[in-house]
Order: sequence, then C-alpha cells, then structure tokens
Amino acid sequence: MTLALHRHGPDGLPLVLLHGFPLDATMWDDVVAELADLPVITVDAPGFGASPQPDDVARAVGRSAEPALETYADAVAAALHGAGVDRAVVAGLSMGGYAVLALAERHRGLLAGVGLLDTKASADDEAARENRFSVAASAESVGAEAVGPMLTQVLGATTQAGRPELVERMRAWLAAAPPAGIAWAQRAMAARPDRLFTLEDLGVPALVLRGAEDPSAPQDAANTMSAALADVEVVVVPHAGHMSAVEAPGPVAAALRRLYERCAQGPVG
Ligand code: MLT
Repeated sequence: MTLALHRHGPDGLPLVLLHGFPLDATMWDDVVAELADLPVITVDAPGFGASPQPDDVARAVGRSAEPALETYADAVAAALHGAGVDRAVVAGLSMGGYAVLALAERHRGLLAGVGLLDTKASADDEAARENRFSVAASAESVGAEAVGPMLTQVLGATTQAGRPELVERMRAWLAAAPPAGIAWAQRAMAARPDRLFTLEDLGVPALVLRGAEDPSAPQDAANTMSAALADVEVVVVPHAGHMSAVEAPGPVAAALRRLYERCAQGPVG
C-alpha cells in the first residue's frame, strides 16, 4: 500500500482531500458529512492515520528516504491510480496544500481542479526551516509533546475564546500525533521549494481559501496564489483560523462544492 485512501459517497469524479499537519484524514469528517452526495476521497499522509511509515511509502514509489513532499505527491498519484482514479479535483489544507502544489508540478494530468486552503506557495525562510528541524528532533526525543504548542497557533481567536470543545478536540489530536510522521513531515516541509510557478499555467478551476484569523497562511500569501491563477474563486472564512475546515466545516464544504461543480463542467482555457 502506498497511502491509505478513504472513500465516501457515490462513484464519479472524486474530490480528494489532503489534511493539514500533524492531523490525519479524520480532520475532514465534518466537511465530508456536508458533502455526502459527492464522491470524496480523504487521504492519510505518509506516517499519519492508516498510511504506512514514510520510508515504506518512499520505497513503494521508488524514491529515496529523504523526507520530501515530492514523495507524498508521487504516493497520492500512485494510490489514486491504483484505485482506478486518473483524474480528480484535489484540495489540501496547509501541508495538504503544499502537496497539491507538488502534484501540480509532477502529476498535472491528474488534476481536474485544485483547492488551496490555509496554505502558501512560498518556501520557508531560514528561521522557519531551523524551527522545523528542531520540532522534528524534539518529536524523535519526546514524541507528540513537540507539537503541543501548536494549539494556540492553529485555531482562530474566536474558536479559542468561545469553543472549548473544539479546543479540546484539537488538543487531543495534537497529543495523538505520530512522532515519526511529525519528524518526517517537518523535514519534508522544510525542503519544499517555492512552487508559485506551478499555478501560472494550471488551466483548471481553482479555489484559494483561508480562515480570516489564520496568521500562518496570511492574506498576502492567498493574494499571491490567486493572482497567478486564471480561473479562481477566493474565499475568506470569517471567525476561523488555520484549521478552517475543522472550525467552519459548513462554509468550507460550500466552497469545495462550488469548486467541484466548476470542475465537473469540464476543463477551462
Ligand atoms: C499545517 O497545518 O499543515 C501546517 O501549519 C503546515 C506548516 O507547518 O507549514
């Protein structure tokens, strides 16, 4: 197995959803419930959820064990092809968005449309890269505790102030995050290049969405991506932070449905 795929709804052109770090496909559950009438496939990243360990994923797609989002993208494409899917609308949140951009570079023919949620096309600066290496090392020594401090960064101020049950759900998810997956993903994200160029001639419908209270995928990053895209809807979800799909599943599902409907009408350009 390359990656664990979870199929929902009827057959047809699938909407594939790639989760954010350091969660797994279950982060999409409330969105999937809103899209019960659509063919949806959620995917676990290497080392997360029901997917194999990153080294096994790399081996399965013939790549080196060096952590890389290219490996994740190749594995998504291989898993989908293995499931009989040659074309899909693919949306990713944050790390999932980085993987969508790697798919746009390496497996463009797979994409009938793209959703870029709470993400950015730029590479990390040196400080961010160093921080990732330190989180990776910490995950290998103390485990999931390494990502505990993310709690206040991934949820918006409105959620943190008024939705204690959601704060607790996120705290539990972070505490259960798999250390090997954390370490691999941090190093893979540190290695990613700027991929804005992949959007410039994409030729399929796109969605750029962010939570209004997300500091880690700021509006200027969304503006940069949307300016590069020829056919794009831009959505800002009020009262949501970085985990917009968890904090505001209704508006996020509605935006994904509009993207899907645009894609199901056929390619543009
Ligand atoms: C995510 O939610 O996937 C992370 O914030 C991505 C990142 O660390 O850049």
